[in-house]
Amino acid sequence: MSIEQCRIIHLPKIADPRGNLTFIEGNKHIPFEIKRVYYLYDVPGGAQRGGHAHKELQQVIIAMSGSFDVILDDGYGKWRFHLNRSYYGLYISSMVWREIDNFSSGSVCMVLASTFYEETDYYRDYNEFLTDVQSQK
Ligand code: TYD
Repeated sequence: MSIEQCRIIHLPKIADPRGNLTFIEGNKHIPFEIKRVYYLYDVPGGAQRGGHAHKELQQVIIAMSGSFDVILDDGYGKWRFHLNRSYYGLYISSMVWREIDNFSSGSVCMVLASTFYEETDYYRDYNEFLTDVQSQK
């Protein structure tokens, strides 16, 4: 798993004058079965979320409302993605450090996750992540 796999996925969008509709099927529109969904909301201005990497977990992040930035770091470089459409999903593989910032007022960040919550899957220490990710190459 590496940063090259991280990408913006264009999700299906059924445009309709009554309101648009987007749907996501696990293993079809995104490259894993969805085990968990969580979302960040009521994020105060200037807040930063994330600040960790995962050993196994894969995720897709979607701006359900408003916008924010996701910064991905594979231990060699950093990439900033601006998410502002509810039909764009940012796929994040395992072993990628992520930060989320620049939340617009009222934004909602939804995360589709490939595993249940498991604290032992987290790297919360950046130097520990760097050591492990760089020794894998
Ligand atoms: P964390 O993943 O650090 O938040 P973020 O990366 O979005 O800034 O999680 C924050 C807290 O919520 C932490 O105490 C763990 C808990 N948590 C759960 O209990 N279940 C979950 O599915 C998630 C994502 C977090």
